[in-house]
Amino acid sequence: MKKLLTVIITTGMMIFTVSPVWSEDSDLFSNAGGIESLRGQVEVSTVNSAEILKREPKDQQLIDRNYVQQPPLIPHTIRGYQVNLNANKCLSCHSFKNAGDMGATKISVTHFITREGTTLSDVSPRRYFCLQCHVTQADAKPLVENTFTPVDSLR
Ligand code: HEC
Ligand code: HEC
Repeated sequence: MKKLLTVIITTGMMIFTVSPVWSEDSDLFSNAGGIESLRGQVEVSTVNSAEILKREPKDQQLIDRNYVQQPPLIPHTIRGYQVNLNANKCLSCHSFKNAGDMGATKISVTHFITREGTTLSDVSPRRYFCLQCHVTQADAKPLVENTFTPVDSLR
């Protein structure tokens, strides 16, 4: 019994002393092969400080789309608007049924089409989570450089 206990304790101690050596070996983690991520040249284990929240004015002029298939930006605040299994706050204003009364833009017919090409009588599941594609407008610095210009007919 005594012997078994010593074995358990020594193996325990071995695991204990070995593991911290791995996690402190920063070379193992920081060597990204010269590639710089959006977080910059920081070690993986470094926790970035939180971003300053981007200012989202309550009501703003809608920024024009840059290309035909672009999901339009959201020109209003969406704080507290829930989209989940039971409710979709966005549709309480943007559905065909409610848009007129609410003075909001109707979702377009593309939002009723499933990925198989069938047109449903209600929003297609693939268009249910609005914020997958639509984002609020904010005065934010681009994360990466972008030299895209729209075609003449859209300018
Ligand atoms: C209380 C009603 C209301 C709710 C809820 C609401 N919206 Fe809106 N939304 C509007 C109105 C009104 C406009 C018209 C433009 C404006 O605000 O100047 C608009 C504009 C938009 C536009 C721009 C459409 C265009 O004209 O091209 C998008 C995109 C949009 N909303 C997305 C959303 C999303 C996504 C949600 C949910 C997270 C949402 N909205 C929730 C009322 C609402
Ligand atoms: C998979 C991406 C995607 C999702 C999810 C999505 N949209 Fe869109 N939405 C688009 C695109 C792309 C356009 C522009 C082209 C078009 O109409 O299909 C658009 C257009 C719109 C417009 C402008 C319509 C017009 O006639 O100008 C509104 C309003 C809108 N979406 C609201 C919503 C709301 C509300 C939801 C959630 C119920 C939603 N969208 C979910 C991609 C998406």
